[in-house]
Amino acid sequence: MEKELHKSFVKNIEIPEDTEHFFSKGRDFIEMMMRYQGAIREVSTKFEILNMEMSVRNNRNPIETIKTRIKTPKSIVNKLKRRNFEISLESVMQNLNDVAGVRIICSFVDDIYYIADLFTKQDDVRVVEIKDYIKNPKPNGYRSYHMIVEIPVFFSNEKQFIRVEVQIRTIAMDFWASLEHQVKYKKDIEKSEEIERQLKECADVISATDVKMMDIAKKIDIL
Ligand code: GTP
Ligand code: MG
Repeated sequence: MEKELHKSFVKNIEIPEDTEHFFSKGRDFIEMMMRYQGAIREVSTKFEILNMEMSVRNNRNPIETIKTRIKTPKSIVNKLKRRNFEISLESVMQNLNDVAGVRIICSFVDDIYYIADLFTKQDDVRVVEIKDYIKNPKPNGYRSYHMIVEIPVFFSNEKQFIRVEVQIRTIAMDFWASLEHQVKYKKDIEKSEEIERQLKECADVISATDVKMMDIAKKIDIL
């Protein structure tokens, strides 16, 4: 088991220059990642249970998909450097909110607020920050509901609150965000204002469509 964990956490490690000391305590690093992995599971399970309850009671699933990801060591180090934070495990736990990430994809906009509310009302969930990019979209058109939460995870000799970034969005918003993300990170193409304008237009069309779809769902009484 330990060997397996070790393998899965270290397989993608590319150690950036001058940060060897960060990884020199390899076991501590793996232990930290294991803790974040535990927090991801706790959060995913909470959403799975809410979804399961809704499917039994109301015969529908507000959640379409749950995706999880853990930040790679390389991008942990790069983010610490970019923000001029110390490169240490304590600094990761203190300064980074998105080492553990859970993305919830819903069918309808109302589902987002519904499950976010049920989740944050749970008495072991500590809400650190909420950013509602649905009510306040980013200038590029990005929409999603973001939460930073702390969740208790039980280990053999302690209970630790671990931070997780939760993003909740509709299928349509997710479709948009993945294309926009590819445009942003594609290195060799010229980033034209034309593409930005088109993406913004798509985001607005998608948002209007999300509203229309929700109206239809309400009319046929499935929401
Ligand atoms: P970071 O940008 O992650 O360092 O934190 P922040 O404080 O700016 O948080 P924010 O809530 O704005 O963004 C967190 C995450 O949301 C990002 O890491 C992305 O995964 C996603 N995100 C935010 N803005 C955009 C966007 O314009 N396009 C896409 N595709 N994703 C975005
Ligand atoms: Mg950002």
